[in-house]
Amino acid sequence: MTKQNIDRYAVMGNPIAHSKSPQIHQQFAKQTKQTLSYEKILVEPENFTQDVADFQSHNGKGLNITVPLKEKAFELATNLTERAKRAKAVNTLILLDENNITGDNTDGIGLVRDLTENHNTELSNKDILILGAGGAVRGILEPFIQQKPSRLVIANRTLARAQELAADFSDIAEIEVFEFKQLKEQQFDIIINGTSASLSGELPPLPDHLLINNGTTYDMMYSKDDTPFMLWSRNNNASNIIDGLGMLVEQAAESFYCWRNIRPETGQVIKSIRENL
Ligand code: ATR
Repeated sequence: MTKQNIDRYAVMGNPIAHSKSPQIHQQFAKQTKQTLSYEKILVEPENFTQDVADFQSHNGKGLNITVPLKEKAFELATNLTERAKRAKAVNTLILLDENNITGDNTDGIGLVRDLTENHNTELSNKDILILGAGGAVRGILEPFIQQKPSRLVIANRTLARAQELAADFSDIAEIEVFEFKQLKEQQFDIIINGTSASLSGELPPLPDHLLINNGTTYDMMYSKDDTPFMLWSRNNNASNIIDGLGMLVEQAAESFYCWRNIRPETGQVIKSIRENL
């Protein structure tokens, strides 16, 4: 196969320099013996449609889409999977032909797989609290609901955003909504941090005893060091404290599966990305 006709994949976003997707997908390709290339492309939002078309016309077969382009990708797709419709955002484009672009969202299944398979954490019949009500949380809700937790609560600084989210999913789940200060006297088996507070080294105000003894916490962010939410978890008797690196690799694995119809092993890849943080 010549370089010209090798199947091309890429991640588009802005900024994109620090994306780990090329490393992850190149490891998947090697492991599954798939011949393909995977690059990162910096895209100005106003050029997104044209950049996707250019990529597609140069043997582009699939894209990962990251901040701030997920909503634009949702608009651009000619057909959408059920989970992408719910998320109102697309992180995976499958480029079939110019009139046929499927938009999918693999973030939620990535998070669910990381919890259930990599960390042996059952979600069914559990009381689960999700912190945050932005795009990141919307993107993961459907696969979460499918796990049938006994209770699903969203707490957000701005209550109206949580209410809106709950309303959008009211046909498939009864989601309770709270402000942080209303969380006193509440207790959960699992707490997921989907706010962007960690980015600025902050933490939503959480009361003591919010987590059961030996409960599980998950920060959708990751960094080399513990995030503020992970430190809170340590001080609040969590026995299973997980960051979002596994979710990153699992969402990538699901995208890879959508494109190539082969599911890569993720354990080794998570380990190697962690070692290089
Ligand atoms: P994203 O795409 O990362 O979800 P977003 O849509 O801007 O980005 O949402 C960010 C989320 O983090 C929101 O739930 C936001 O709360 P508000 O809806 O009240 O803005 C939450 N958030 C950000 N910084 C926060 C902080 N310091 N404390 C608590 N919540 C915070």
